[in-house]
Amino acid sequence: MRMVDLIEKKRDGQAHTKEEIDFIIHGYSTDEIPDYQISAWAMAVFFQDMTQEERAFLTEAMVHSGDTIDLSAIKGIKVDKHSTGGVGDTTTLVLAPLVASLGVPVAKMSGRGLGHTGGTIDKLEAIPGFSVEITNDEFIDLVNTNKAAVIGQTQNLTPADKKLYGLRDVTATVNSIPLIASSIMSKKIASGADGIVLDVKTGAGAFMKELSQSKELAEAMVQIGNNLGRKTSAIISDMSQPLGFMIGNALEVKEAIDTLKGEGPEDLTDLCLTLGSHMVMVANKADTLEEAREMLEESINSGKALEQFKIFIESQKGDPSVVDNPEKLPQASFKESVLAEKDGFVSGIEADHIGTAAMVLGAGRATKDSVIDLAVGIELHKKIGDFVKKGESLATIYSNQKDVIDSKSKVLASYHFSSDPVSAPTLVYDIIT
Ligand code: URA
Ligand code: CA
Repeated sequence: MRMVDLIEKKRDGQAHTKEEIDFIIHGYSTDEIPDYQISAWAMAVFFQDMTQEERAFLTEAMVHSGDTIDLSAIKGIKVDKHSTGGVGDTTTLVLAPLVASLGVPVAKMSGRGLGHTGGTIDKLEAIPGFSVEITNDEFIDLVNTNKAAVIGQTQNLTPADKKLYGLRDVTATVNSIPLIASSIMSKKIASGADGIVLDVKTGAGAFMKELSQSKELAEAMVQIGNNLGRKTSAIISDMSQPLGFMIGNALEVKEAIDTLKGEGPEDLTDLCLTLGSHMVMVANKADTLEEAREMLEESINSGKALEQFKIFIESQKGDPSVVDNPEKLPQASFKESVLAEKDGFVSGIEADHIGTAAMVLGAGRATKDSVIDLAVGIELHKKIGDFVKKGESLATIYSNQKDVIDSKSKVLASYHFSSDPVSAPTLVYDIIT
């Protein structure tokens, strides 16, 4: 096989066979095929697309380029949840204990945050003592004993994807549905779950800003998962404004505790119940989505979910007393209010800019090597649809530096107002199974 013929084939809109895709990915992984040929091929894929079959072949080839995690020693149907990345997305902190409290094993491999989106591991590390640096065996034991555990990404998962993503980033081929879908799904499949629930974000703070694109991506990923024997469903949820009120690591732990107590923000609670119901269904623990949702609500109301959070924290060497005493979480030295400059209804909050404002405070990483400050972040007091009077507080900035002029003006500029009433945005746009 010659790579030049395969580029030509894709350029002319034909579909690859499994052998051809294996040849491309294997050749690229072993440096037998150079970057320039893969760049040309990726551009051909960008314009010519891939069939469902090709997408599944590509995903599989990337899965087999590196280590895969074997979770078969964990009893029951293991369910993973993945978000395409948002601002103030606190759902994993809530869902791991919530879903585990119903006996569904949650074996989660998570990453750190980069840019304007936060990472689950950073948030968990805001809990004093909490460690995600556990061995695979410890991880499996913890899930078997306590139903939930989170491990950092240490293994060499999908190196072909890492290499291809790096190349796509500099050849204007990131934004291709088959390439994004196979990239995300290869990582999910390599991490070993039997079932996958995807939270595909849409709107200004999301990777996919248009609903139609988000839907197309969700459908592509669900098809790949199901084609490769993983029960997969996707929720398309709003990221036109940040989720919940809190953005920042310790602040989001506090928000997760509130949500597990039944006192969390409406949007975060609703999204967790929606995603959680799908996780419970994928795990075969309920007959209908309604039943699954009632079970989750009952676990929150009875305190079972909160108790499970304490068990989860303690089992990973964290201090579970933060649940009853959240003031033990890292606290920022300075608090500053962002005040409204006029009366009006909030008509928009640019989630990506709020994320950047939090990053500038130190809550996120500008580069992979940045050191983050777990205590800092932003608490929103007003969301889309709320009426605000001039001089009222829109948000509080938590910081460890006195001068927060930059973040303050970014937060203020992120808010848009209307003199006419505005309704809150739809939270869940679509569900794809
Ligand atoms: N995120 C991924 O992991 N891969 C892509 O291709 C795009 C976003
Ligand atoms: Ca939040």
